[in-house]
Amino acid sequence: MDDAKKIIDSILAPATNNPPVNTGMANPTATAQPMQPVQINTTSVGAPAQVQTEPSPVAAAPQKKGFSLFGSRTMSIDIGKQKEEERLKKEAAKREEEARRTYEKGLASIRDLIAPSSVQITPNYIVINDLFIRTLFIFNYPRYIFPNWLSPLINIDQTMDIGMFIYPRDTKGVLDTLRKRSGQVQAALQNEAEKGLVRNPELEGAYQDIEELRDRLTRGEEKLFQFAIYITIYSKTLDELDMLSSRIESQLGGSLIYSKRAGFQMSEGFRSTIPLGSDLLDVARNMNTGALSTAFPFASMDLTSNEGIMYGINRHNNSLIIFDRFSLENANAVVFAKSGGGKSYSVKLEALRYMMTGAEIIIIDPENEYKNLCKVVGGSFLNMSLSSDDRINPFDLTKLPDNATEAEAEDNIRNALITLKGLFNLLLGSMNPEEDAIVEKALADVYTSKGISKDPQSQKNPPPLMSDFHEVLKKIPQADSIVKRLDRYVTGTFSNFFNQPTNINMNNPFVVFNIRDLEASFRPIAMYMVLDFIWSKIKHEKKKRLLIVDEAWTMMEHEDAARFIFSIAKRARKYYCGLTTIAQDVEDFLGNKYGKAIITNSSLQLLLRQSPASIEAVTKTFNLTQAEAALLLESGVGEGLFFAGLNHVAIKIIASYTEDQIVTTSPKQQIEQAAAAGTTLEQTEKT
Ligand SMILES: Nc1ncnc2c1ncn2[C@@H]1O[C@H](COP(=O)(O)OP(=O)(O)O)[C@@H](O)[C@H]1O
Ligand SMILES: [Mg+2]
Repeated sequence: MDDAKKIIDSILAPATNNPPVNTGMANPTATAQPMQPVQINTTSVGAPAQVQTEPSPVAAAPQKKGFSLFGSRTMSIDIGKQKEEERLKKEAAKREEEARRTYEKGLASIRDLIAPSSVQITPNYIVINDLFIRTLFIFNYPRYIFPNWLSPLINIDQTMDIGMFIYPRDTKGVLDTLRKRSGQVQAALQNEAEKGLVRNPELEGAYQDIEELRDRLTRGEEKLFQFAIYITIYSKTLDELDMLSSRIESQLGGSLIYSKRAGFQMSEGFRSTIPLGSDLLDVARNMNTGALSTAFPFASMDLTSNEGIMYGINRHNNSLIIFDRFSLENANAVVFAKSGGGKSYSVKLEALRYMMTGAEIIIIDPENEYKNLCKVVGGSFLNMSLSSDDRINPFDLTKLPDNATEAEAEDNIRNALITLKGLFNLLLGSMNPEEDAIVEKALADVYTSKGISKDPQSQKNPPPLMSDFHEVLKKIPQADSIVKRLDRYVTGTFSNFFNQPTNINMNNPFVVFNIRDLEASFRPIAMYMVLDFIWSKIKHEKKKRLLIVDEAWTMMEHEDAARFIFSIAKRARKYYCGLTTIAQDVEDFLGNKYGKAIITNSSLQLLLRQSPASIEAVTKTFNLTQAEAALLLESGVGEGLFFAGLNHVAIKIIASYTEDQIVTTSPKQQIEQAAAAGTTLEQTEKT
């Protein structure tokens, strides 16, 4: 238990160096230090301390002078009295001090609050409360060590503390030792040669290494260090702890780095990895600068690859971030920032640059922001609104390839039915189980009524329209309420939008669906229809594509819509498609379970400027460090963090002058551009 006390003491040691706020410390031995000043205070009761030890000249003077009998007697009585008084005072002070200590012992202190209720130290692990703890140390490294060998260890998703101690060594002393060592090895080599033995590569290697190191040390190119590294792992159970230990040992062993458990030294090991800077295990190995630098625990800060597009500038080192999102596990991306943070701007830039690599771009634009870009690249801009002429029929089937089998055709209809059911969930509001069954049946019937079946050829027939579905429903007696709710999509105000055959074509490498002019409540439905239409197209023909959903949070509020985006995110990879989801508020986005899943299914994550209100949720969702969170708070427009797989870099998104002119969303710039072209902004928007 003595050790346990040491652990607690060492954790709390820094606190006791400063006079604690609450002096009621429970541990008298540890508090002896800071309490000393208080003891000195007791001299205020008696004479000043110096009088007792070293009589001052003034106090001594009467003694020397008083040689007369009378005089000397009074003096000695005086002194006797004084001594007695002093003794009494000292005793009183001592009692007072003891009383104070006893009182303070009874006070709860910070120490009491934070100390664990139990610490058990065994030769193989420590148990603090219910947590099992073990420390490992590295005792041997290979001759060649690869950069970033620590990173797989750090990336294990487990709590661990790693303590590194780097002791610089005096080069002069090292050189002397190396010289001796070099002499010995050389002698051994010579000896073997004289005996006529075959050459010994091991000795030769050692000799070369020593000589090389001596050269480098002498020239000052390298320095010598001693390096110690300890890893403390934490687990809820002993089994888990054992498993984790083995995992770490084999992980390191894979790079020929050998570790051991700090048997019988668990307490020392644990204390060496808490941030106190005390190395109690003392297992250090010699390393030169080059080898030591490989232990730098961070993945490369560079994100410059040979292919892809330029995303921006790396704010750590001003290198370029050049990257191909299609090289990742999936090509999906999420972009989060507060309004005006530069989300649309950066996504537009990315789209523009990806077009140059031959990718097709499809955008859902709820703010009418992509028009200029679309015009410049000669894309097709489709207006999804009640008054426009661009139409999508939600009953369209995905086009099958010419050699499609019956099974594929059947699958095709089944998929269409699933998406249509999602759409009707949005259109009709919540449905009870009976209504659900009715809609399902009617959907199947309406395709049959048009002669569409699992025969691949039959799927070339014109698909049904909303009014056909309405007719089928009317014939079902229990479908009354559904029929009524569906009326407005067939004959009412919305019929134009829903009850027409598809007349748009997507044979343009850049297509924008503008849904700004749709009624807000109607937008998720339109987005759903549009996404379904796009998804059919993507499934029909594999091609490198980016599908961008701006302000996706409007859709995420609706479960069916969110589920649909998620299913696209999950399957996009198979079709060589990358989905980009843009949203403002992480918390909103995580409001339903699909939000989180979309984020985890996106290998690329771009976080731009965040508001203080949302930073906590962002930090939690993306496992940011404190420094990263701070960086996001103080970022300017177009600045933030760029995560590609395991790489994290701070990014600044920059555009060339021409690009900026094309992608800007600043109204001021747009008006200036329009004026320069001799028109007004309204006129430009209309064309
Ligand atoms: N990287 C950038 N460089 C220069 N201006 C930018 C950059 N990013 C955004 N902007 C400007 O900031 C404003 C807001 O950008 P925008 O992309 O519309 O924000 P969000 O979509 O996040 O609301 C626009 O005027 C845009 O031109
Ligand atoms: Mg925007």
